[in-house]
Amino acid sequence: MTISQALRLRRSLLAERLPNRPVLLFSGRERARNYPGNSYPFRASSHFLYFAGWNHPGLTVLLEGGRAVLFYDFPESEDVVWHGSGLSEQELKARFAFDEIRPSSRLSEVQGATSLPLAEAAEQLEVMGRVPDLTEDRELAEAVVFLRLDHDACAQQQLRQAGRATVQAHRAGMAATRRGATEWQVRAAMDFELIQHGMPHSYQPIVTRDGQVLHNNAHENTLIDGDMILADFGAETLEGWAADVTRCWPVSGRFSQRQREIYQVVLKAQQEAIKAVKPWAEFRHIHLLAARVLTEGLIDLGLLVGKPDDLVERGAHALFFVHGLGHLLGLDVHDMEDLGDLAGYAEGRHRSPQFGLCYLRLDRTLKPGMAVTIEPGFYWIDRLLDDPEVLKPFADCVRPDVIQAYREVKGIRIEDDLLVTEQGHENLTPGLPTTLEEVERAVTGAVTASRS
Ligand code: GLY
Ligand code: MN
Ligand code: MN
Repeated sequence: MTISQALRLRRSLLAERLPNRPVLLFSGRERARNYPGNSYPFRASSHFLYFAGWNHPGLTVLLEGGRAVLFYDFPESEDVVWHGSGLSEQELKARFAFDEIRPSSRLSEVQGATSLPLAEAAEQLEVMGRVPDLTEDRELAEAVVFLRLDHDACAQQQLRQAGRATVQAHRAGMAATRRGATEWQVRAAMDFELIQHGMPHSYQPIVTRDGQVLHNNAHENTLIDGDMILADFGAETLEGWAADVTRCWPVSGRFSQRQREIYQVVLKAQQEAIKAVKPWAEFRHIHLLAARVLTEGLIDLGLLVGKPDDLVERGAHALFFVHGLGHLLGLDVHDMEDLGDLAGYAEGRHRSPQFGLCYLRLDRTLKPGMAVTIEPGFYWIDRLLDDPEVLKPFADCVRPDVIQAYREVKGIRIEDDLLVTEQGHENLTPGLPTTLEEVERAVTGAVTASRS
């Protein structure tokens, strides 16, 4: 399925769900770094890309009865001097299946259109100085979520492409790691792979020896033996589809004893969770399954004491596994999170107030066509584990003396991307070293066996 075929299909499916309703979607605008001539790299709104395909700023598309009208001003001579003449009308129609292209001055003629409840809609209209009669539309948001949850053949192909480039980037990062290198140098090796593929990142990369800081985007440290890199790093295809992968590897090429012990526990939680990914499974149950496997492992190692089910119910595992098991993946790395929990949570379901579970981003029944990440982790976060007040409710089940011995582990997360299929699932990020032995071999340069 080509991109233009997919765009036509998506527009007609939207029209079937919402007949007789004109919809306006906005690509968004460029943001100045400090003055307008020097902007941040532009990336269009994912909803816009899903139906209109063109990653270009300042655009509006009108979807009506399956037709797509693009509002666009072809560059005038001064623009052409600085930016070139861009795509012709014929090229735009061929590539993105636009049925008609109108100058943006005609946007004010649009009557009775709705849009998604996003700030960018109002903002873009304001910038253009033309405000059609526009309302926010909950039914539209629900219809968009319904369609974007079920990845069509074109989207699946894109997700595989992003996954392949991401796997190569992680392999390159492993191979480039050595004592005395900086985190930046490891990241540079990973970036090199993405640039070779002509792909940007799908989110700001994490490449750090301090993986216990969950969103750690700094890369200044020089690596020494005993450090372990946590790399959470994903590619985005030119059409905007994301991968999201995490691996951890030892700088010396050999995990320490404590690192090995915890790595095995996290890996087992990930493997059990991956096995459970299939149609009609509840993602929340898979999260709790991973929490239980992790808890059993921590009991075996002596960090926790008690019955696994009781500990999971009380949230004791969340002292170490503080976040949810995963999230939707698609055009956004956390797909459609701009709509709050509308995409992540099925109707009538809500976030738990319990620490740990409150960070679960997905509570839906899995269906073929959905893509999710599976990413259990273990983190030694001193703000939690050194605080007697935090540990107090768990005094009977946490062994402070034992957990102190695992401080050096810092952060371990193992993350892969899965497409739910009729038969079960497809790993979108196959072939990446995952077991302790595979990872050690990839760092030291020995030939690695691959996992599918
Ligand atoms: N890279 C963000 C996440 O794993 O959810
Ligand atoms: Mn993720
Ligand atoms: Mn990630």
